[in-house]
Amino acid sequence: MQTHLRGRDLITLQEWTKDEVDTLLDVAFQLKRERALGVAHPLLRDKVLAMLFFFSSTRTRASFEAGMAQLGGHAQFIESRTTQIAHGDTAKEIGEILGRYNDGIAIRHCDWGLGNQYLRDVAEASRVPVLNMQCDVYHPHQALADVMTIIERFGDPRGRTATISWAHDPSYLKPISVAQSLLLLLPRFGMNVRLVHPPEFQLMGDIVEQARENARAAHAGFELMDDFDAGFVRTDVVYAKSWGAMMTTSDETEDTRLINKYASWMTDERHMMTANEDAIFMHPLPADRNVEVTDAVIDGPHSIVYDQAENRLHSQKAVMALTMG
Ligand code: CP
Repeated sequence: MQTHLRGRDLITLQEWTKDEVDTLLDVAFQLKRERALGVAHPLLRDKVLAMLFFFSSTRTRASFEAGMAQLGGHAQFIESRTTQIAHGDTAKEIGEILGRYNDGIAIRHCDWGLGNQYLRDVAEASRVPVLNMQCDVYHPHQALADVMTIIERFGDPRGRTATISWAHDPSYLKPISVAQSLLLLLPRFGMNVRLVHPPEFQLMGDIVEQARENARAAHAGFELMDDFDAGFVRTDVVYAKSWGAMMTTSDETEDTRLINKYASWMTDERHMMTANEDAIFMHPLPADRNVEVTDAVIDGPHSIVYDQAENRLHSQKAVMALTMG
């Protein structure tokens, strides 16, 4: 167990050691158990988290805000477009100023090519931890909740197979950050990972290489595939969601055309029947029902999407308690 995490930024879990990630999970399970028992844990009494959003959110906003209240503190909701950020407040100014008002700064900024750099610039100027609520490259708090949920279901997931697959959804161009954070994290827990996508929907090359290296170091399997149906066969975890073709085109019309080229990439019961009997279906939500995944699967016996969403709360509380305490 690591006990020196106070003050640490969490922009990507790739910058945290496996021991440190294990500590986050250990505390997350403790806080979940205590909440179930009605045991109060005001570990951040009088502390304040700034939550700065450049992009919409349901789960992330609600779970960080509820988590801070349950830890005895407060979370302030700030939107870029209703503040002077829209009129020129720089990342340095935000880091300096919000860092003096608050005990942590959480940011969601998903704009392609901008988000991660913005978080890095705020962190550089901030005296308090910066927590990544999703950027264009990473969604570490989603991946942390996901691995917690997998461990809850399977125990030690070493040797299990996880399929991270692209899925069809033209509703809006979703960031690649969920898939990338998951791809980096799961092999560190010894899981064999299959990354499945059409050729136009690549992830960032350096992220894929880091993930491959994580798998090699953990003696885990690492496979790249472009056959949606084959990705399901005898897998333990199905994580099928849409992302945009950012690595192929910057033209949104072309991106939508490419997405629609693969309209058959929707998870249905026929796919789940080819997975292992105790396989789980995961999705970070929001999902486009009957476009990305059928109602029968997302509401069916394999789906654990609500446990996944719940674990955002417990795992983020662990991050905040350990970094902001
Ligand atoms: N999974 C997730 O990050 O959900 P929100 O976009 O609603 O925050």
